[in-house]
Amino acid sequence: MTQSAIWSPERTVEIIAAHAHREGPLLPILHDIQGAFGHVPHDAVSIIAGALNLSRAEVHGVISFYHDFHAAPAEGRVIKLCRAEACQARGVEALAAAVEGRIALEPVYCLGLCASGPAAMIDGRLVARLTAERLIQLAEA
Ligand code: FES
Repeated sequence: MTQSAIWSPERTVEIIAAHAHREGPLLPILHDIQGAFGHVPHDAVSIIAGALNLSRAEVHGVISFYHDFHAAPAEGRVIKLCRAEACQARGVEALAAAVEGRIALEPVYCLGLCASGPAAMIDGRLVARLTAERLIQLAEA
């Protein structure tokens, strides 16, 4: 897992400035803030909203709409588990139920490993033919 920096308003302002000239700067700003700090802190939302002339509710709405953004630091490793059709046919829902409460899962929809699902992405690495035991093992590695 990559190490995230402690949130700072100065770094937040730098990230905003790097994207402020773009059309539709909110998503790239949120991506970079999450990349820098591991989540989008509450205090950063106020700064982003002020800089982009949006309400805090509008920025929160975008953060909560996209599963990739987190308003709080994730505890432990977050695994992106494919919940699309082919993985469903290969038992991903039973797999998710078997590890519920033990692993932080985020849904993604197709990782291109449909023939060898259930599939997941862990720290940017694709894994296939998952079982509950293997998933727990990978999450704790
Ligand atoms: S449906 Fe899961 S990898 Fe394609």
